[in-house]
Parts: sequence; structure tokens; C-alpha cells
Amino acid sequence: MKTVVITGSARGLGLNLAKFFREYNYNVVISDLKEENLLTAEKELETINSKGKVTHKVCDVSKISDLEDLMNFSKKEFEQVDIWINNAGVNQPQKPIWELEEKEINMIVDVDLKGTVYGSKVAMEEMSKQHSGAIYNIEGYGSNDAHMLGLNMYGTSKRAVTYFTEGLAQEAEEKNTGVIVGKLSPGIMITDFTTHSLGNDKMELAEKTKKVYNILGDKPEVVAKFLVDRMVTNTKNNVKINWLTNTKAFTRFLMAPFNKRDFFKDK
Ligand SMILES: NC(=O)c1ccc[n+]([C@@H]2O[C@H](COP(=O)([O-])OP(=O)(O)OC[C@H]3O[C@@H](n4cnc5c(N)ncnc54)[C@H](O)[C@@H]3O)[C@@H](O)[C@H]2O)c1
Repeated sequence: MKTVVITGSARGLGLNLAKFFREYNYNVVISDLKEENLLTAEKELETINSKGKVTHKVCDVSKISDLEDLMNFSKKEFEQVDIWINNAGVNQPQKPIWELEEKEINMIVDVDLKGTVYGSKVAMEEMSKQHSGAIYNIEGYGSNDAHMLGLNMYGTSKRAVTYFTEGLAQEAEEKNTGVIVGKLSPGIMITDFTTHSLGNDKMELAEKTKKVYNILGDKPEVVAKFLVDRMVTNTKNNVKINWLTNTKAFTRFLMAPFNKRDFFKDK
């Protein structure tokens, strides 16, 4: 039975990825900042019929020792890790860079960029020993060089995640590690991330932004299914599994006059 470890998986995309890996009978290790949120998520995952087991471990991705503990815990539970997903992430307050506080800048870089680098390092150290496995990192706004007011620090981190992940894929190949590395591009998902900055601070979205999210956005379960279906069969290094392709985005805008979705009416 294969095992997947997902960071930041008590809610949102991470939790939904875990659900679909359960359906594929993987052993699933979820991890996040708070034990109580993990216990709730684990209960939800246990209601899904699966031959795999589910367990959890508290892990703050901004601390490499937590990620090492997560890997050791997962190996102890399930012998080896086959897929490791660096999913944990925080959105930024919608402010220009000079209005962000030092601690806010640090948090975005520590979680979104360094958390991914640390997680990849820890996963690669173990997977290269077993000469198998796959590491996936999550792209986001800025990965493709786009710019928007209020997303500069987040975009800087995600642009770096993309560069880093491609470099890691090259290193994995050149060093003949037997490990594959890929990027997951989830487009826009309506999660707590969309309406909260830095994990939990509520943000008011501009009407213009809501309009775009209603056209291009999706619920995380829709995106997660797409991503998991592809991860479980992927054998190629340096792939990008891309939900919101240019063609899909173009079609969504074309169909916008007929789009009746309103993700924000109860928020
Ligand atoms: N929602 C979107 O529109 C969107 C779009 C593109 C990319 N993404 C990316 O997808 C990933 C998941 O986002 P989401 O929408 O599910 O967000 P979310 O806020 O619903 O979930 C993120 C999870 O990460 C956890 N987390 C935050 N800081 C952490 C830390 N230091 N250590 C461990 N866990 C931590 C949170 O507790 C939360 O459970 C993120 O990397 C995000 O940047 C999101």
C-alpha cells in the first residue's frame, strides 16, 4: 500500500487531496499547525471507505525539525513515503509591500517559500535513499510572473517556489535519485485562503475580485480530484499538473454572462 504525506492538510486543498488519496487506498498522513483541527479532519477522512489508514501529526512547515519529525513519524507508521506534497500556504494581507509589517513579510516567506524548500529537502533526503518517490510543490499567483497590487510578497514566494521546484527536478535527475518532482497548479479555489490572510485574518474582497473568482474559481474538491487522479498515475519528472489552463480560463470568461455561481453569498 502506498503512502502520501500532505502538509497544511487540516482544511482546504490539502484536506481534499487527502480525501481522494483515501479513495485510491493510499495510507494518508495529514499535518497542520493545530492538533484539534487535525483530529476533526481525520474524523472526516475516516468516513471515506478506504483500504489505507489515516493518521496525523502536528507540523509547522517553517521549522525544519517539525518536517523531519513528520517524515520520521510517517516512516515509523508506514515504512516509506511514496508521495510528499508541500501544500501548506498563507495568503498575504492585500497591501502594498511598504505597508506590510516585518513579521508579515517573514511569515509569507517562511511558510510559502521556506516551508516548501524545507519540506522538499527532508522528503528528498529520505526518498533518494529508497530510490523512489514523488515530491509535489504548489504553485500560486505569481508563479507565471503575473503581478497584482497586494499580492507582491505572496507572488514573490510562489515565483520562487516554481523556480526552486524546476531546479529540484533537475537535481533529482542529474543525481539519479530515482525520485520525481512536480508542480501542482490549482488555479483559484474558494477556500479560507481566499478570504483570510496569514492563515486566519479575515479579508474583505473587492467586488471586482469576487466577480473574477466567481468566473475562474472552483471548490477545492473539484481541483483536488483532478490533481490526485494525475498524481497517482504520473511517472514523469518535472511535470506541471495544471488545473486552470489558458484555454479553460478563456472559455470561462466567454461563458461568464451565463455563469450563475456566487461563492461569496454566505461569506
Ligand atoms: N485558494 C487558492 O485560490 C489558491 C490558489 C493557488 C494556490 N493556492 C495554494 O494552495 C495551497 C493550499 O491553499 P488552500 O487554499 O487550501 O488554503 P487554506 O488556508 O484553506 O489551507 C492552508 C492550510 O495550511 C496551513 N498552514 C498555514 N501555515 C502553516 C504552517 N506554518 N505549517 C503548517 N501548516 C500551515 C493552514 O493551517 C491551513 O490548514 C497553498 O500553498 C496556497 O498558496 C491556493
